[in-house]
Amino acid sequence: MTEPGNFAIAPEQIVGPAHVLTDAEARASYETDWTRRYHGTAQLVVRPGSTAEVAAVLRLCSEVSAAVVPQGGNTGLVGGGVPRGGEVVLSLTRLDAMQTVDAEATQVTVGAGVTLARLQDHVRGAGLAFGVDLASRGSATIGGMIATNAGGIHVLHYGGMRAQLVGIEAVRADGAVLRRLPGLTKDNTGYDLPGLIAGSEGTLAVITAARLKLVSQLPQRAVALLAVPDVSSALNVLARVRTLGSLDAAELFFREGVELVCKHSGLPMPFGASHACYVLLECAAPQDPLPDLAAALEGAPFEDSAMAADRPGRDALWAYRERHTEAINAEGVPHKLDVALPLARLQEFAEGVRARLAHAVPEARAILFGHAADGNLHVNVLGLAADDDRATDTILRYVASLGGSISAEHGIGIAKTRWLHLTRSAEEIATMAAVKTAFDPAGLLNPGVIFGL
Ligand code: MLT
Ligand code: ZN
Repeated sequence: MTEPGNFAIAPEQIVGPAHVLTDAEARASYETDWTRRYHGTAQLVVRPGSTAEVAAVLRLCSEVSAAVVPQGGNTGLVGGGVPRGGEVVLSLTRLDAMQTVDAEATQVTVGAGVTLARLQDHVRGAGLAFGVDLASRGSATIGGMIATNAGGIHVLHYGGMRAQLVGIEAVRADGAVLRRLPGLTKDNTGYDLPGLIAGSEGTLAVITAARLKLVSQLPQRAVALLAVPDVSSALNVLARVRTLGSLDAAELFFREGVELVCKHSGLPMPFGASHACYVLLECAAPQDPLPDLAAALEGAPFEDSAMAADRPGRDALWAYRERHTEAINAEGVPHKLDVALPLARLQEFAEGVRARLAHAVPEARAILFGHAADGNLHVNVLGLAADDDRATDTILRYVASLGGSISAEHGIGIAKTRWLHLTRSAEEIATMAAVKTAFDPAGLLNPGVIFGL
C-alpha cells in the first residue's frame, strides 16, 4: 500500500482539494457496495472532473505503483467497484457532460459519469431512445454499465451495453488516452478496442466517455402479467409472443419473490390466489400493440392474467418485477448469483437449483427472478454469512453442468473469480490475462477482479 505522501505531487493539485476524500466518513459511501456484502478501505477517493485529470491521476498512481479501483454509480453487484484494501478509488461521477444528440446519425457522446436516467431524458428530448434499461437507472452510470457490459430488460431487443457502443474514450493505467469517438458505424481497422474494454470490469482501462447508438422511440406499449404453473409454461407463452416482433421485455419471477415484494412494498398480491411462477411481457410498437398481444396469448397455458396499456397500469404491473432487488436487500445481505442457461434447460435448473440448495445448504433461502428470453436467472441467496461460499459453489457447478454461464450480465468482479474456470477454458483465461498484461503490465487497475489475486 502506498501512503498518500509518496505521490510526486498531491492529488489535490490535479483535481482540487474538494475532490480528494481522505477522512473515513467522506469515503464511506465509496467503500461499501450496494448489497453491503463487499467493503474495504480506500487509501483515498479521488474525483477527477475531466479526462485530462483522470490521465494525470492515473500517471501519478502508476509512478508509485498505487492500485486503482475505478467506480461509477457503485451499483455493481459482484464487488468489483469497491476497494479491497488500500487502493485509490477513482470516482468517475463528475464526468457527466452530455453532447447534443446527433439526430442524423442517431448517436450521442456522453461522459462516463452520466446516469442512465439522465441519458434517457436527454435523448427522449430529441425524439429518440436508448436501447438499454435497468432498475438502477437513477444511479448506474454509463461508464460503469459499459465496464460491466450491463444487460437489463431489453437485451432481447437491442442487446447489452457492448452492442450500443459506437466508440469509447478510455485511459490506460499509465495515463495514455485511447480515444475513438468519431461516430463511425463502420470501421474495420484492426482490433475492436471499445468492444474489448466493454465488460472488462475496470481491469484494462478507465472509461471516461462513450459514443452511443440510439434507437427509435416506440411510444405505444402494452404489458401483460401472467401467472403460470412453471417455467416451461412461461417459455411457451414467450414463444407465442416472440413471433410478434414487438416484444421488448420478458421477465420471469416466482411465488417467493412476489411475496417478498408485497411484504416490503405494501403492494397487494397481483392476483387473488398465489401462483408458482409469473411472466411479465412488454410489447412496444408505433401503433397500440395490445390487440396483437392479447390475440397471441389466446389459448396460452396461463392461470390468471392482467394487462395494461396506459402508463400507470404498466408501471403497476412492472412494480412486482422491479421491486425484487430492493425487497431482497431489505430482507438481508444477499449472495447474488447471476447465471445464464440454455432456454431448454431453464425449467430443469429452476427446479434443480432449489433441490440442490435444500440438500447442500439447508439454511439458505433462494429467491429467483430474471430475464426469461435471455435464459438469465438471478439466484439470490439469503441467510448466509458474507464469506460462506457453499451456495455459490453448489449453484455455479450446477450451472456449468447444464451448459450455462456463471455470469449473464453482472460480471465476475471479485465474487466469482474462483469459479471462472468452470465456464472458461484454461486457454481462454490465459489469453484474457495476456490482454490484461498488454493494457496494464503492472497490474494496477482493479487488481483481483476477474482473475483473482
Ligand atoms: C435486475 O435484473 O433487476 C438486475 O440485474 C439487478 C439484480 O439482479 O438484482
Ligand atoms: Zn438483471
